[in-house]
Amino acid sequence: MKNIAVIGTGYVGLVSGAGISDYGHNVVCTDIDISKIKRLQNGEITIYEPGLEELVNRNVQSNRLSFSSNVNKCIQRADVIFIAVGTPEGDNGSSDLSAVFDVARAIGNNLNGYKIICTKSTVPIGTGAKITEIIKETSNELNEFAYVSNPEFLREGSAVKDFLWPDRVIIGASCARAFDTMKNVYRPLFINETPVIETTIETAELIKYASNAFLSVKISYINEIANICDEIGADVHVVSKAMGIDGRISSKFLHPGPGFGGSCFPKDTKALISMAEEMGVNLKVVKSAVEANQLQKERMVKKLFNLFDGNVKNKTIAILGLAFKAQTDDVRESPAIDIIDALQSNGAIIKAFDPAANDNMKKLYNDLDTYVSWEEAVKDVDGVVIMTEWNEFRGMDLSKLKGLVKSPNILDCRNILKIDDLEKLGFKYDNVGRKKR
Ligand code: UGA
Repeated sequence: MKNIAVIGTGYVGLVSGAGISDYGHNVVCTDIDISKIKRLQNGEITIYEPGLEELVNRNVQSNRLSFSSNVNKCIQRADVIFIAVGTPEGDNGSSDLSAVFDVARAIGNNLNGYKIICTKSTVPIGTGAKITEIIKETSNELNEFAYVSNPEFLREGSAVKDFLWPDRVIIGASCARAFDTMKNVYRPLFINETPVIETTIETAELIKYASNAFLSVKISYINEIANICDEIGADVHVVSKAMGIDGRISSKFLHPGPGFGGSCFPKDTKALISMAEEMGVNLKVVKSAVEANQLQKERMVKKLFNLFDGNVKNKTIAILGLAFKAQTDDVRESPAIDIIDALQSNGAIIKAFDPAANDNMKKLYNDLDTYVSWEEAVKDVDGVVIMTEWNEFRGMDLSKLKGLVKSPNILDCRNILKIDDLEKLGFKYDNVGRKKR
């Protein structure tokens, strides 16, 4: 059992801290945000993530997980320190690393014996070397440490599952002691035979960006194929199913939609492009995926307007789904933002509903009219647009929907509604790469 400090109790830090304590270690999650730590100490889960409350409670009750705002003390007591602070987008698409470097200085100032310093935050290639340098500069040279890059692959909405049952664990380090300690941290996964890749720090840093950028390319690709389907009357679901059966392609991340959003793909693709540019490498494929993603968001706006012959002025439109994907309350870079902007600037009246993200979207648009259920949101509207693939929209009773709206016009940006039912009920409908009317 190791004593572990996780610095940063945002999305990555909280899920990782709770997950590592579930592996049987003694974990303290710490943060400079005192109010956040107080809320966590009082049993409040500060982020929306299915299964996290149960995971946190179970480990707090077993005395393996606790929260503290005393960052220095947590560093002093730990054998392994995870850096999990935010790396927001800075200038020119690069990452703002000020929080990471502040933590590195705090670690250096409090180093009191051999420790493993491990970064979980997504940081540009070469950041490990900079962190190492800062710790060396700020610490007493008698205190040794080893640096590890251990990127996370958590998806919002299924982060607990992704942490406890990952596809792989990446450990980038430069000495046997660091690899051994990290293998000890992830011991339960070794027993489960989870693949563990031991590599250099720089390679580990690149793996994270290479993975996220690849998935972004895959999404933009299937979105463009869906756009061809729109033109020729083909069904993109059949196309992606047939493609996905080929083991070289795989069926995952081949779901067409309104474009990718969230805090990771948009930021990480831009950061990778900007890093590569500095190295003199032109990432044409990733650049195109980013551009195609913007065009996809704009295409959804055009599709919605087309349901009203191009004019949405004074039309009342229900937006179902505000979060960038289901099972999260996160609206960062959500395609719903482009829809709201376009509707607002063209004189439409919006009625919005999301099962979890109403409040977050109201922080961006305080005049947004939000409702507590889809039934309320669609009452007497001229049209409906589905932006997020929540299960409650998948299971929507379409005859009930028809009875509530003023005019049965619907754009399904997630392809979750049954076309046969829309057809039978006489909806005018559109989607992403499927039959439409
Ligand atoms: C993503 C990665 O999947 C995680 O592995 C990674 O750890 C995380 O970023 C991160 O870097 O921290 P996340 O952004 O939470 O996770 O969500 P995803 O499930 O990957 O979805 C991203 C976007 O792609 C969403 O807007 C989603 O709707 C869209 N998407 C996804 C599609 O349009 N089609 C698909 O087939 C899959």
